[in-house]
Amino acid sequence: MDSLTIPRPDDWHLHLRDGAMLRAVLPETARHFARALVMPNLVPPVVTAAQAADYRDRILAAKPLNSKFRPLMTLYLTEETQVRDLRAAAEIGLVTAVKLYPAGATTNSASGVSDFAKVRRVLENMAQIGLPLCVHGEVTDPTIDIFDREAVFIDRVLDPIRRDVPGLRVVMEHITTRDAADYVRAGGPDLAATITTHHLVINRNHILAGGIRPHYYCLPVAKREEHRLALVAAATGGEACFFLGTDSAPHLDAAKLMPCGCAGCFTATNTLSILAEVFEREAALERLEGFVSRHGPAFYRLPVNTDTVTLIKGEPVAYPALIATDDGPVTVFDPMMPLHWRVAG
Ligand code: DOR
Ligand code: ZN
Repeated sequence: MDSLTIPRPDDWHLHLRDGAMLRAVLPETARHFARALVMPNLVPPVVTAAQAADYRDRILAAKPLNSKFRPLMTLYLTEETQVRDLRAAAEIGLVTAVKLYPAGATTNSASGVSDFAKVRRVLENMAQIGLPLCVHGEVTDPTIDIFDREAVFIDRVLDPIRRDVPGLRVVMEHITTRDAADYVRAGGPDLAATITTHHLVINRNHILAGGIRPHYYCLPVAKREEHRLALVAAATGGEACFFLGTDSAPHLDAAKLMPCGCAGCFTATNTLSILAEVFEREAALERLEGFVSRHGPAFYRLPVNTDTVTLIKGEPVAYPALIATDDGPVTVFDPMMPLHWRVAG
């Protein structure tokens, strides 16, 4: 096979930021993707319906001319989130999901949830109206090793929440372990997971062996090779509970390359080429369509995009190493392998 036409993909987990960064990174996603679920971890976070509407308008204003890209908005769950505000935002289709960050788990998560009892009523309302909860699945307990934080989160937080609030629809975001993949598989129709592009490519050696590589540092941090292999099996296996959420998370190089660097891999630019390569290596190219174009809309109860993209195989494609912003460069994720698939047009 050297050409593949599929419904235009969606990205079910994306960081677009704001201002100069938004203007620089949005075209990278809008070029290939029809829709993206936009994360709300701005400073300050997108907490209310009014803030989500304003942020959506800023994204639409930054959109390249003639682009049909549609941002799907999320609200950042806090212990102060108001049921009425959230229900109204969901009813008019302004928000597609609510994002749960355990307080302190990652970039700009200080306003996240510490006491889960305080958000129970909100979660019950979300279950009633079918509004999905997107979960950053890591405990923040400093005594838990960072490589174990996802697996411990499932036992200590996620499973109790799901038992407590039956019918709550949950997406476990950017899973990084076999434990998470197995938990999601067994979770029934109300549970799904996104998998990033970079977690299909790197393991923890890529971050730490032979020198520290800040551009491969993200959260949840990449785990052992056996977990990467479990993620590849999940993504390429055709199971509807797994779909693409790139977690493309741009940071200025100046913020990554410092004694305490930010977490995030910027993959918007070359994601589809990387995924085609990964799926082809697994002899699973025919399942790429499910992973990038069909399973996500099915979970979110939205139509599959009607227009298409065509991927063409040929000589290795060169992508820029950096994206320029008015505030400085952002490094594009280096997959450390030649990419033979490009998006036509
Ligand atoms: O690597 C990450 N970067 N993980 C997250 O959870 C947040 C994201 C960001 O916003 O930079
Ligand atoms: Zn993210």
